[in-house]
Amino acid sequence: MMNIRFVDLKAQYLEIRDEIDTAIQAVIEESAFINGPYLKEFERNFAQYLGVDHCVGVGNGTDALVIALKALGVKEGEEIVTVANSFIATSEAVSLSGGQVVFVDCRPDTFNIDVDEIENHINRKTRGIIPVHLYGQPADMDSILSIAERYNLFVVEDAAQAHGATYKGKMAGTFGHCACFSFFPGKNLGAYGDGGAVVTNDEELARKVSMTANHGRMKKFFHEFEGCNSRLDGLQAAILNVKLKHLNRWNQRRREIAARYDNAFHDLVEIPRVRDDVKHVYHLYVIRVPNRDKIRVLLSERGVATGIHYPVPLPFLKAYEYLDIKPSDYPEATRLKDEILSLPIHGSMPDQEVDYVIQQMFDILKSEGS
Ligand SMILES: Cc1ncc(COP(=O)(O)O)c(C=O)c1O
Repeated sequence: MMNIRFVDLKAQYLEIRDEIDTAIQAVIEESAFINGPYLKEFERNFAQYLGVDHCVGVGNGTDALVIALKALGVKEGEEIVTVANSFIATSEAVSLSGGQVVFVDCRPDTFNIDVDEIENHINRKTRGIIPVHLYGQPADMDSILSIAERYNLFVVEDAAQAHGATYKGKMAGTFGHCACFSFFPGKNLGAYGDGGAVVTNDEELARKVSMTANHGRMKKFFHEFEGCNSRLDGLQAAILNVKLKHLNRWNQRRREIAARYDNAFHDLVEIPRVRDDVKHVYHLYVIRVPNRDKIRVLLSERGVATGIHYPVPLPFLKAYEYLDIKPSDYPEATRLKDEILSLPIHGSMPDQEVDYVIQQMFDILKSEGS
């Protein structure tokens, strides 16, 4: 029996070991731990990769969102609209910045925010929208931007799962007033610890983000307001600089694996639906199966690790009990939570592992009569 990990960071490291070891050694030799040249280089490179003017490295993706919202001046009680199916960081950031989160149901096909539902949740307290490019597939940005323009709202893209994805040929993370990335190790572009970034074309916003992440200062000891300490450190920046060069290749490999899964499973289960105008980067490959829990156990018995993203939609987490939301308010998120299953996928996954997952899935689905 093979053992298939959900993500294999060791395999990825072994592919680029010399480059990584050299980069880490250089940071240590130069003691360039905080705010040094490696951070500047990564910020420049990542901004250039995306095609934006500014990138500010921060401590993690959650901080990126909180800091972006604070820099946009969110005030106590202002409402920010986001999607019901995401990781809690998205909605947590709203509360941590002083705002009030308002959830919108997701679409039944792509699981991204249902743009037809957004306007039903907008009122005079609404300040902004946070679309999430969930699983690596960009949300419907044209519709979101036109709603934002109509109601004079800001748009902060949560691009934590979508490094290198495109919408109508343009990189995810380049549409909103700003976008937030996570470099959590398992992400498509991952550090060797926590890391994140805010990217924007707005120079003033970039300055505010940078100051907020650095105790409210641009210059040492001259603090213009109270911020926080949330920095992307030199070691992580140097590692990300190395990995950024491989990102397109790894994303391409993810797409190849997804295409093989699509081919193998399309008659048996609901495979991911991808919009015609996007390039999906498959941070996660999520299928929909009615007997999900049983299939998950059977796969695990055959050595295949899987995940559920996410088992409880955000409105139904204990953290949001105070909102007193009913499942019937979010029918799509409620339906999909029991059926979604994330299969192993990563940029360093060899063909034998992909073959094995396909074979096991085939055997299980056939015997389960799916
Ligand atoms: C959609 C989404 N938003 C935000 C985050 C937060 O990123 P981090 O874990 O780096 O704080 C994550 C990842 O964990 C995420 O998946």
